[in-house]
Amino acid sequence: MQISPSILSADFANLESELAAISNADWAHVDVMDAHFVPNLTLGLPIVESLLRVSPIPIDCHLMIEDPDRWAPPYAEAGAKSVTFHIEAAKDPVTLARDIRGQGARASMALKPGTAFAPYEELLTEVDMVLVMTVEPGFGGQSFMADQMPKVEQVRQAVRKHGGDIWVQVDGGVSAGTIEQCAEAGADVFVAGSAVYGAHEAASAVDELRELALR
Ligand code: DX5
Ligand code: ZN
Repeated sequence: MQISPSILSADFANLESELAAISNADWAHVDVMDAHFVPNLTLGLPIVESLLRVSPIPIDCHLMIEDPDRWAPPYAEAGAKSVTFHIEAAKDPVTLARDIRGQGARASMALKPGTAFAPYEELLTEVDMVLVMTVEPGFGGQSFMADQMPKVEQVRQAVRKHGGDIWVQVDGGVSAGTIEQCAEAGADVFVAGSAVYGAHEAASAVDELRELALR
């Protein structure tokens, strides 16, 4: 069970200390948005490069961008240990996943709430993680979509059948109130933005979420 706090809800003027505040987490989740694939704009490669220099924990890049085939591998090359692209945006996901892995990172494919998993099951031979979005990508602080749990179960079942070290991540509205149902459905990597950075103490929120996931 791994916790990956999303810095989307952190103070962008103090990202180094915001990363230090979650050093007990497994990953730091960085949401890259391009104002095209999603209607929001966050940050890009130069800032991720700076974050990589100061982060005490590995970086998990979630790319909500058009043309990941072209733009995703540089994040792996820069040193992000996990790089997630959206399957809806990828033109050639097999080559893309191989490019990411070739740079020494874990390759991951993300599914928006309206995207079914079945057509992409065969890609499990190419990826190290599947991200099941539990909100429409674009913004932090949205309500958790419990109707995505059957998809998490479906992915977990397929991963079990397939074998190998493939993780199942959930992202969006994950909190103390929703993490247990995600774990029960089969998720093992949990992204939480507002539930961590909106808490009184980010590190305690990380510990609490991990405990709940392990229940
Ligand atoms: C949404 C992002 C999430 C977001 C989650 O598009 O992918 O990572 O930061 O924020 P919360 O946990 O507040 O829903
Ligand atoms: Zn995300």
